[in-house]
Amino acid sequence: MDQQGIKKIYNKIVIDKYKNDYEYNRWFATPLLQAGFQMMLLIIKKHVLQIEPAINNILELGPGAGTWTKMLQAKFCGANFDLVDISKEMLDLSKKVFGEEKFSYFESDFLAWQTDKTYDLFFSSRVLEYFPKKTPVLTKIFSLLNHDKYGFIITKNPQYWRYHILGKKIPIMHRQQIRPKDLRKLLVKIGFVNIEFYPAVMTFPIFKSVFINNLIFNLFSNFQLNIISQLFTEAYIVKFKKQ
Ligand SMILES: C[S@@+](CC[C@H](N)C(=O)[O-])C[C@H]1O[C@@H](n2cnc3c(N)ncnc32)[C@H](O)[C@@H]1O
Repeated sequence: MDQQGIKKIYNKIVIDKYKNDYEYNRWFATPLLQAGFQMMLLIIKKHVLQIEPAINNILELGPGAGTWTKMLQAKFCGANFDLVDISKEMLDLSKKVFGEEKFSYFESDFLAWQTDKTYDLFFSSRVLEYFPKKTPVLTKIFSLLNHDKYGFIITKNPQYWRYHILGKKIPIMHRQQIRPKDLRKLLVKIGFVNIEFYPAVMTFPIFKSVFINNLIFNLFSNFQLNIISQLFTEAYIVKFKKQ
């Protein structure tokens, strides 16, 4: 699916499916979603918020309702934030939360977006999976990051076998997810270093149990992604540095 298709879908589902409260309906409406939220919170605290605070300019791709932007803002409170999102409806939700001071909003497809600035931190949660080609996105991130600075991407782990087992078709918009080992190859090729992958959200199939999901998260989330943890990883985080 191309970027214009994704834009249309997000502009529509914010209102139809998420009733203009994306954050609540995506992260808090059920105990299972809340468990996923807590996992993301921990993972972002453990990795993203641990980097040294000499951060003046932050770029976030696809902030949506600004759910994770709030955490970055609390930690890097002196920094300027540039938020790029293809969906006006999504970006409006962020604007409501943060206002204009220290935040700049760009309603644009990331690949079409132009800037003269460079950044001390790049962050993006659950957006990379919507780009048909990952290399142009990662190359752009490389050109926008300052030297010795980190980027973090959280993205869906393609667990397509779960669809196959249930005899379900993979929805078109979810067909572009990238496996961690393929993403690693691209990051290395582009020139990033210190690349590490960790589980971000873990779910055990079939049971839909908060208890089991938390159990596997507690068991695996401190360690880099491996062949066992990948089986239960719904979304992973990758940390990378531009030398
Ligand atoms: C699943 S939401 C994630 C929102 C938020 N980051 C979170 O984790 O809750 C994906 C977001 O990425 C945006 N997006 C998708 N494709 C994009 C593109 N090509 N350029 C900029 N933003 C994009 C969507 O509009 C949407 O706001």
